[in-house]
Amino acid sequence: MVAETVLTPADLIWPLFVTSGSGVEEPIATLPGVSRWSVDLAVARAREARDLGIPCLALFPNTPPELRTADGREALNPDNLMCRAIGAIKDAVPDIGVLTDVALDPYTAHGHDGLVDAAGYVLNDVTAELLVGQALTQAAAGADIIAPSDMMDGRVGAIRTALEAGGHVNVQIMAYAAKYASAFYGPFRDAVGSRGLLKGDKKTYQMDHANAEEALREVALDLAEGADTVMVKPGLPYLDIVRRVKERFEVPVFAYQVSGEYAMIEAAVAAGAGERDALVLETLLAFKRAGCAGVLTYHAAHAARLLAG
Ligand code: PBG
Repeated sequence: MVAETVLTPADLIWPLFVTSGSGVEEPIATLPGVSRWSVDLAVARAREARDLGIPCLALFPNTPPELRTADGREALNPDNLMCRAIGAIKDAVPDIGVLTDVALDPYTAHGHDGLVDAAGYVLNDVTAELLVGQALTQAAAGADIIAPSDMMDGRVGAIRTALEAGGHVNVQIMAYAAKYASAFYGPFRDAVGSRGLLKGDKKTYQMDHANAEEALREVALDLAEGADTVMVKPGLPYLDIVRRVKERFEVPVFAYQVSGEYAMIEAAVAAGAGERDALVLETLLAFKRAGCAGVLTYHAAHAARLLAG
C-alpha cells in the first residue's frame, strides 16, 4: 500500500537478436539463456511478448559475415535481415511495438558504428547521412520507434527531418542520448558478431564514463533535434544519470540494462552468489525508482512471467 514504485510488464522492452535461416536458434555463450532467432522464431518470441504484456521489442541483426563491408551498406538494403524481421513481426503481431537500432556496427567489416578514417576516427557527417538512409529503410519496413545508438552528432535532427519528409510522421525517435563507451557491451558484440571484428574502441564517439554533465548536454541536443524519448546506457551503474536527466528534462527516460549487466546476474546465479528471480526484480525496480519510464532488458520475458505470478 505504501510502495512508491511499481514494476509491470508494460515497463519492459525485450531486445531480440535475429539471424538467417529458418527454424534456427543459436545460443550465445557469453549471454547464457539468450539466443539468436531466425525470423520465423523471432515472430514466435513476439507473440510470447505480446501475451506477457510486454509492449515493445528491440531488434538487432547478426548480419552474415560476407555482407559486412567497410561502409556497412547492407544497413540500407530494404530486404536485409533486420527489415525482414520487422516486416514479419508487424504482419503477425501488429500490436507489438518494434524498436530498431540505428548504427552501422552489425554491418561493418571493422565493427564500428560508422565509417572510419585511416587513423580509426569515426567520420561523423558521412556516417550521419548513411544513418538517415538506414532509419528510412527501417521505417519503411514498419518500425514504430527508431533508436539511434551510434552517438554521431546531429543525426537525430537529420533523421527527424527525413522521416517527416518521407511521410513517416508517426514514427518515434528514442535517442540513445547518453551512451557511454562501456566495458559492459562485450556479450552484445558476440551476439551481433562484431566483437572479433572490432578494431580499437568506441571512445571517439561514445561518452567518457567520468562525465555526467556531458550527458545532460547530449540529452539537450537530442531533444532539441526532435527526439521523443531518451535513453541512458548502460543501466545500473548509471542510475545517477537517469535521475539527473529525468529531473532536468521531464521527458520519458529509458535505460538499457545491457548485456554485461545481464551476464553478471547470470554469473552470480551460476556461482550460487544470488537468486535469479530476486536479483532480476530488484534491479528492474531500481530503474523505475531512479525515474525510468521503462527498461530494455534481456530478462524481460522472465521478469514478465514473474510479475504475472
Ligand atoms: C550498437 C549497440 C551496442 C549495444 C546496443 N547497440 C554495442 C556497442 O555500442 O558497442 C549494446 C547493448 C548491450 O550490450 O546489451 N551501436
